[in-house]
Amino acid sequence: MTVPQLHDDPADFWEGHYTKMSKLSGGRPSAILVRFAEGRAIGRALDLGCARGDDAIWLTKQGWTVTGVDVAESALNAARQAAREAEVAERAQFERHDLGVSIPEGKFDLVTAMFLHSPGKFDRVSALRRAANAVVPGGLLLIGAHGSCPPWSWADPDTVYPTAEDEMAALDLSPSEWRNVFVGPVERVAIGPDGQTATVIDTVIAVERR
Ligand SMILES: C[S@@+](CC[C@H](N)C(=O)[O-])C[C@H]1O[C@@H](n2cnc3c(N)ncnc32)[C@H](O)[C@@H]1O
Repeated sequence: MTVPQLHDDPADFWEGHYTKMSKLSGGRPSAILVRFAEGRAIGRALDLGCARGDDAIWLTKQGWTVTGVDVAESALNAARQAAREAEVAERAQFERHDLGVSIPEGKFDLVTAMFLHSPGKFDRVSALRRAANAVVPGGLLLIGAHGSCPPWSWADPDTVYPTAEDEMAALDLSPSEWRNVFVGPVERVAIGPDGQTATVIDTVIAVERR
C-alpha cells in the first residue's frame, strides 16, 4: 500500500495521481448518482471532484447540461476528451477550481459531490456548504463519501469515518430549507486495482432544497 504524502496544494497530489493513470477511465458512473439522479427532472448539474468525467458524461447522456469541476487539469483534459468521444461535449463543460477556495458561478438543479476526499489541506465542510448554496429550490444536493475503506486503500486502516448523520450535522443545513431524501449508509462491492473485490460502506446525503 502506498501512503500519499500530504500536500498543502491539493493539485500537487491529484495531478500526480492522474498523470500516472491511463488517459481514459472505465466510463462507469457512480451507483449512488445513478440511484438518486435517475427519474429526476432534467436540468443543470454541477459535478464537484468530477475526475475524468464518468459521472458528468453519464448525466449528459440522460439529458442534463453539466459543469464538471476538478482541481487536476490532467483529469479535466481526460474528461473533455471523453465527452468529445461520447459526442456530448456540447452539454458538458469542465472547469478547474480548488473547491476549498471557489466554485463555479450560478445555480444548479443537481449538485453532486462523489467521494470528494483529498489527502492534505482541504476544508471539505466549507466546500460542501458552498455546494449547498449552489442548489436551486426543488434541486438536489447529493454527497457520496467513504464510510469504510477496502484493504487496498491508501487510507489508514484504523481511520474512523464520519457517518452520513455526522456529515449532515457538520453541514448544518436547516430542516426548514432542506428535506431529507436519504441520509445514511449504503453497501457497495468495490473493485481493486488488480481486480480484487471487497464490500465497503459508502455514506450518502441526498437532500432536496425546499
Ligand atoms: C477520490 S476522487 C473521486 C472522483 C470521482 N468523483 C469519483 O467518484 O470517482 C476525488 C476527486 O476530487 C478532486 N479534488 C480533490 N480535492 C479537490 C479540491 N480541493 N478541489 C477540486 N477538486 C478536488 C480530485 O482531483 C479527484 O478527482
